[in-house]
Amino acid sequence: MCSVVGYVGNAYCKDLLVEGLSRLEYRGYDSAGFACLSADDNRLMYAKSPGRLIQLKELLDKNPMDGFIGIGHTRWSTHGTSTQENAHPHFDCKKRISIVHNGIIENHHTLRGDLLGKHLFVSDTDTEVVAHLFESLCAQYATCKDALLALAARIEGAYAFIILDNESPDQLILARHRSPLCIGIGEGQMYAASDPIAFAGKTNKVVFLPDATCAIIKKDSIELFDFKGNFLPLEVKTVDFAWLGAEKDGHEHHMLKEIYEQKRAIHATVSSLAAMGDTLWSSIGLTKEQSRAITSLSFIGCGTSWHAARIAQFFFEKIARIPTRVLLASEFRYMPFFPEQKSMYVAISQSGETADTLEALRLVKDMGMATIALTNVASSTLVREAGGFLLTHAGQEMAVASTKAFSTQVAALYWLANRLALEKEIITPEQMQAAEHDLFVVAQVLEDTIELYKHIIVETLAKRYAHKTKAIFLGRHISYPFAMEAALKLKEISYIFSQGYPAGELKHGPLALVDAETPIFLFSHQDPLIYQKLVANAQEVKARSGHIIAFVFEGQDELCKLADQAFVFPRVAPLLEPLAMTGVMQFFAYQVAKELELPIDKPRNLAKSVTVE
Ligand code: G6P
Repeated sequence: MCSVVGYVGNAYCKDLLVEGLSRLEYRGYDSAGFACLSADDNRLMYAKSPGRLIQLKELLDKNPMDGFIGIGHTRWSTHGTSTQENAHPHFDCKKRISIVHNGIIENHHTLRGDLLGKHLFVSDTDTEVVAHLFESLCAQYATCKDALLALAARIEGAYAFIILDNESPDQLILARHRSPLCIGIGEGQMYAASDPIAFAGKTNKVVFLPDATCAIIKKDSIELFDFKGNFLPLEVKTVDFAWLGAEKDGHEHHMLKEIYEQKRAIHATVSSLAAMGDTLWSSIGLTKEQSRAITSLSFIGCGTSWHAARIAQFFFEKIARIPTRVLLASEFRYMPFFPEQKSMYVAISQSGETADTLEALRLVKDMGMATIALTNVASSTLVREAGGFLLTHAGQEMAVASTKAFSTQVAALYWLANRLALEKEIITPEQMQAAEHDLFVVAQVLEDTIELYKHIIVETLAKRYAHKTKAIFLGRHISYPFAMEAALKLKEISYIFSQGYPAGELKHGPLALVDAETPIFLFSHQDPLIYQKLVANAQEVKARSGHIIAFVFEGQDELCKLADQAFVFPRVAPLLEPLAMTGVMQFFAYQVAKELELPIDKPRNLAKSVTVE
């Protein structure tokens, strides 16, 4: 999940490319690099550094370099650890070719074998192979385009790369297969990047490279062609976006800012869905009749998005009475697939760029099935490739750990389940309005309960639990997928081993882990029967001297008394329990990580946009 940026034009490029990289650092932050051709004599100059972008900036301050053409990279390691040698750009032996790459070259091992002996490799990366191979091909073919086509024919896997060739100092060479890549068109200048946010504010005219295409860009021209060499027309989109991401509004971390933005984000999402009227159907690419005839739903996603879908399964089955499956994109792709004509497939992804989710969507589309993207990024690949789309309006989410994207996904799906129920005449227009109102109410509860509990969490609880080595999260029914999300939140930012289980499974193994030292987070449910079962589970834990932190609803005194620590929530509409508990759960995880002085917005080994499989 690296990011690539490039520039060719009339301006010095170092600062704008480094700025672009800082906006894309969410995609990976193991190392960073920059290369340009000197404005005086087209000499190649470069700097690369392991670690965060800030380290590259320091290097560039010590060794100034700049030019009118350049490329940059931030890395999320796939082949080889985070070292200076493995940082991009990579070069051929003569340092004629410099390349930055996002993706994985699957046949790099074979290619490397073919090139060994004639080329000297200095890194462990798959990308370096492309630099050497392209240099050889440039020697064999008359034109850059022919060499590029030959390159595309030889390499397999996912890639978005930008190449700087010293011998053509006025152009950048781009190729894309599966990984995202776009071009920004300026006045006498062109930008290239994995995500247009890199050049937001400079231009809003964007060409998203179609899959399996190459481009050669100069400061005032773009040649776009497919892998057979056929020139393609340019589809220039006006993208309405602004870069607001760097602001933390006085908060110490983006994650905290984003936790506090959830009420507004849920309001914005629900209001915009409610305002869609009949345009909903054209947006999701189904007629009203088709939507009434849906016999089953399948959600596909990864990580937090998959958890949101697991929660939403209850909405669609209970409210809209549509049998629903939730599939992990990375698993689904390798399992037998039985397409059902009246089924609808919803790919759910905050970024709209997650490689596994995209590949799963492509698979389903190839079978002729109806597909919908639910995402927070209107300009994402998922939106462009799905049959229809719905947007959450969380605003840009910067912290790797998802917060407001999660709560807006849950809110949007609750709304959609009710909307389909209305269309199927299972609920009345008044009930639809009540559902929207319930979402606004739960957004308020989410915010109010953070206020209510923030002092005790900051002053006492975070300190008490920060040095635990493991934690167990239990739920039942809809609070089980929420427990999984809570476990993910804690583990990704605090590095405490955290596991979510269905509470009923406790006695089938996890009970062996229970001791006085291991905190057990238990998420309650308002349904009296399920609540009673949770009380029984809590008793089983207490009988073994377990330590319980319970998230309960008003009036659930029995569970409250069993708990060592309880957070009490106002009662909300059935099925909206997870949203009510979301704010406190996230705030708790955040404070534990803060207590441990960890890099909360950019946890080790992770990245926000997972564009490799
Ligand atoms: C990464 C992020 C998670 C996110 C997952 C799926 O792993 O760290 O927070 O849930 O990707 O991302 P998506 O953009 O598809 O929702």
